Amino acid sequence: MKNAQHDEMIHLLRNHRSIREFQQKRIPPDLINTVLTAGQAASSSSHGQSYTIINVTDDEKKRLLADYAGKQTHIRDCSNFLVFCADLYRLEQIASLNGVNLKEVIESTEMLLISTIDAALAAQNVAIAAESLQLGIVYIGGIRNNPEQVSELLELPYRVYPVFGMCVGYPQPDKVPDSKPRLPLAVVCHENSYSPFEDVYPEIQEYDEEMRDYYANRSHGSRTATWSGAMLDKRKVPRRMFMKHFLNQRGFSLR
Ligand SMILES: Cc1cc2nc3c(=O)[nH]c(=O)nc-3n(C[C@H](O)[C@H](O)[C@H](O)COP(=O)(O)O)c2cc1C
Repeated sequence: MKNAQHDEMIHLLRNHRSIREFQQKRIPPDLINTVLTAGQAASSSSHGQSYTIINVTDDEKKRLLADYAGKQTHIRDCSNFLVFCADLYRLEQIASLNGVNLKEVIESTEMLLISTIDAALAAQNVAIAAESLQLGIVYIGGIRNNPEQVSELLELPYRVYPVFGMCVGYPQPDKVPDSKPRLPLAVVCHENSYSPFEDVYPEIQEYDEEMRDYYANRSHGSRTATWSGAMLDKRKVPRRMFMKHFLNQRGFSLR
């Protein structure tokens, strides 16, 4: 039976929007720990928990990370900048202490996927927990613009790489954006087998118009792109082509 608590949870999830303007107010350590332990409750592959979260509270480090991520000032302004890392170092250390050689396994592409997925699932739990406490979040893939500098700054060991960051803080109440419409469910969820593109394309076209209105509203008329147009624009230039090399250098996906 669905009750008021379920409605509240669904409302919270559907009410998500990224926050990029934060109050200059620190989240008390107890509260951030509550959020982080909720993150830890996420499922992980074989219960391996192959991730590490670096909770960056140091102002100078946040300032540097903001620069590395392409001058994203919300990193500097948020209370806690969480860097979610895929971590195979811990497992390798345990293996070595136990005289087990896991090199071949740890260097597999499958372990890259496992550790990256574990980090992402923990992050999304953190996001929901934070939002349930009226905190705001925004994911920051921008830290992969300069992944080497980020790894050095955070002293990440070999077999650990930064997947993305997340700003967490108290939102500026007058700077909370409208939530962004999503693709119609039928476009992203198909029943029993993959739906032909022709069947879903009309719904994408309708969504394009909805997003055109959304962007126009948000930009006070200066942005007229559709969703398809915005995506093509964003993806037409290859980005971060150094990632394969970077991951290999960190000891990921070598086989
Ligand atoms: C992995 C990931 C990386 C992201 N990186 C950035 C980023 O570097 N900077 C930023 O401002 N937003 C970033 N975002 C936020 C997305 O732009 C945002 O989630 C998307 O536009 C949908 O908007 P919403 O979260 O407000 O619903 C990222 C989101 C994800 C999931």
